[in-house]
Amino acid sequence: MTQAPRHDPYTTTNAGIPVESDEHSLTVGADGPILLQDHYLIEKMAQFNRERVPERVVHAKGSGAYGVFEVTNDVSQFTKADLFQPGKRTEMLARFSTVAGEQGSPDTWRDPRGFALKFYTEHGNYDMVGNNTPVFFVRDPQKFQDFIRSQKRRVDNGLRDHDMQWDFWTLSPESAHMVTWLMGDRGIPRSYRHMNGYSSHTYMWVNGGGERFWVKYHFKTDQGIEFLTQADADRLAGEDPDLHRRDLFDSIDRGEHPTWTVYVQVMPFEDAPGYRFNPFDLTKVWPHGDYPLIELGRMTLNQNPEDYFVHIEQAAFEPSNLVPGIGPSPDKMLLGRLFSYPDTHRYRIGANYTQLPPNRPHSPVNSYAKDGAMRYEPARVGAPYAPNSYGGPAADVGRFGDVAGWQAAGEMVREAYALHSEDDDFGQAGTQVREVLDDAARDRLVTNITGHLKDGVSAPVLARAIEYWRNVDKDLGARVAKELDAG
Ligand code: NDP
Ligand code: HEM
Repeated sequence: MTQAPRHDPYTTTNAGIPVESDEHSLTVGADGPILLQDHYLIEKMAQFNRERVPERVVHAKGSGAYGVFEVTNDVSQFTKADLFQPGKRTEMLARFSTVAGEQGSPDTWRDPRGFALKFYTEHGNYDMVGNNTPVFFVRDPQKFQDFIRSQKRRVDNGLRDHDMQWDFWTLSPESAHMVTWLMGDRGIPRSYRHMNGYSSHTYMWVNGGGERFWVKYHFKTDQGIEFLTQADADRLAGEDPDLHRRDLFDSIDRGEHPTWTVYVQVMPFEDAPGYRFNPFDLTKVWPHGDYPLIELGRMTLNQNPEDYFVHIEQAAFEPSNLVPGIGPSPDKMLLGRLFSYPDTHRYRIGANYTQLPPNRPHSPVNSYAKDGAMRYEPARVGAPYAPNSYGGPAADVGRFGDVAGWQAAGEMVREAYALHSEDDDFGQAGTQVREVLDDAARDRLVTNITGHLKDGVSAPVLARAIEYWRNVDKDLGARVAKELDAG
């Protein structure tokens, strides 16, 4: 009798039991019925049926890698956060994404790109969940869900629809700065390595003496900004829909580790009320001339995920993860986001999502949370309540400083932000068109806008769109109108 070859490793069930065959179900005779006792076959089918978790409701298609953040400048006069202290190196995870497309959608669709970072600090996870744009489409979290629905798919035919997109944008003039950005070259980066990241939001920093500052982060790509034209992006959407995922993974695999130089703009706490723009309005930047960039550090991505699903699909970023020395700001969008992300994670990947490998802090967890689905790390607190007399953890009042907050008082209202002297919806978009873009970039902006508008946008919405671009810049509006007229 010939001896079957030995296989090392040998296949097992999920319980580690050696299986009898990778190929054949257990049947009564070769042509007979399958037996219910073929536990391995049943396990395979049942496991397969449960392989998917819901995709992220936005930013579903993404790619990511682990890396390190190194501090290269002394900013300790502005923050006591341990990850920003001189000489510090902190392990981190990054996930880049498109926003409106589903998991299988092409990487080269025109869309903002997510720029989500998780820093494993000594005082827990710090998440900076930004985009490749320093501004956003809306300034109140009430409008986020409506905005996203206008960018995703129609109710009746399940198709994406430019009419919906422009309908929402032109009825929401605060979107103009972001839409100018989106329709420009940066609306389709050449790869995730060739784009900047921004916190977009303003955050608070608190130093060791309790002094407060307002800050915005800028992650500038050391690979240089590069973009794709609409024509190249359209072609690549068919030829290689996973282009950006492939590019990031392959470059790290080759040892070409992408880096970003990190800067902050710092605004003294007292400047905010009198600043010419509302510094918390997410549709505005702080012009560099007012608050110059201060170098902070370098981010390097140097390690691919071992298992995409485990490390990237299950990664759960949350703007509410703020560590001592860093706090939120009165930006209403940011305040809305503090609730939304942990909520969606509980729904998408379960109540104990913080125990999953990419989300597990690298510092001690002494939380009183217990039980719940798929919990596998024992609670380390002894008595499961606080206060207790059995040596359980107690909040160390004073050790990490007071709440990073600000004074607030007033009637409860539903109102737009109070306007600062130069606040309007179109001004900064106009500055970008006139002062930042060169002639060639302006030409491409016009082509991109008109190309988008020619694709199924109804007459009343088109008329509003022309007005919208006139408000951004008179000449730009006239050029858009002329090209649309030309058919
Ligand atoms: P600056 O001239 O100091 O800065 C302009 C900035 O625009 C550049 O530093 C660069 O920022 C960015 N930029 C360059 N080319 C493009 C492009 N094709 N599309 C989009 N952005 C580009 O001027 P201000 O700070 O006074 O800002 C003027 C306008 O520039 C703003 O209204 C805003 O639209 C835009 N901008 C401003 C930023 C800010 O934080 N102040 C950041 C980015 C854009 P980067 O190096 O970050 O790419
Ligand atoms: C993802 C909500 C605004 C950046 C998400 C997700 C939700 C969400 C529910 C899915 C998260 C997941 O399933 O893991 C909101 C709400 C917003 C808002 C309610 C406004 C009120 C913004 C803004 C930015 C941003 C302004 C950038 C400055 C991101 C990024 C991701 C994301 C990068 C993907 C995170 C990842 O890679 O896992 N958002 N969002 N969002 N959002 Fe937002």
